[in-house]
Amino acid sequence: SNQDLDSLKKAAALAAVEFVRDGMIVGLGTGSTARHMVVALGDKVRSGMRLRGVPTSKETAALATQQGIVLIDADNAWMIDVAIDGADQVDPGFNLIKGGGGALLKEKIVAASAKQFIVLVDHTKRVSVLGGSFPLPIEVIPFGWGSTAREIQALTKSPVVLRERDGLLF
Ligand code: A5P
Repeated sequence: SNQDLDSLKKAAALAAVEFVRDGMIVGLGTGSTARHMVVALGDKVRSGMRLRGVPTSKETAALATQQGIVLIDADNAWMIDVAIDGADQVDPGFNLIKGGGGALLKEKIVAASAKQFIVLVDHTKRVSVLGGSFPLPIEVIPFGWGSTAREIQALTKSPVVLRERDGLLF
C-alpha cells in the first residue's frame, strides 16, 4: 500500500541521516522520500546537532526552514559534505534517472558538488534498464526555451513534454 511504501521511504531516509555528522553542510534533495530525510535532520538539529543545508527546491527550502535547518545562500561557493536525495529509477549499475519531481538542475548541481552523495530508493525505483515508464526529465533555462525544445525534439523524434504547475510552465 501507499502507507507501506511511505514507511519504506522513511526507513531509507533515517538510515541515510546516520551518515550526517555535527557541523556538516548537507545537500537537501527533493521529493516525498527526501521530505522524510529533511524532517529527520530537523530532529537532529533539535537535539543539538549543528547543520547547514543547501536545498534543491523551494519546497525543500521551506520545509528545511520550518525544521530549523539553517540554509546556505546559493551565491556562496559551498563545500557540501554529503548530499541526500531520492531518485526516480536506479539500474543494477547504480545509474539513476532523477528530476521527475521537477528539481533536476538544482539536484544535479548539489549532487555534483558534494563530497558524498547518498541516494534514497525503495524497491519501486529498481529497474533493469533505465527509462520507458515516464518522460525523461530534462531541465532547461527559460532563456530561449522554445528553441531548445525544438532542438530536443529533433534529437529525440519524440514529443517534448513541458511541465506545468498552476497553469504555468515551470
Ligand atoms: C525530484 O526532482 C526527483 O528527482 C525526486 O528525487 C525523485 O522524483 C524521487 O521522488 P520521490 O521520493 O517522491 O519518489
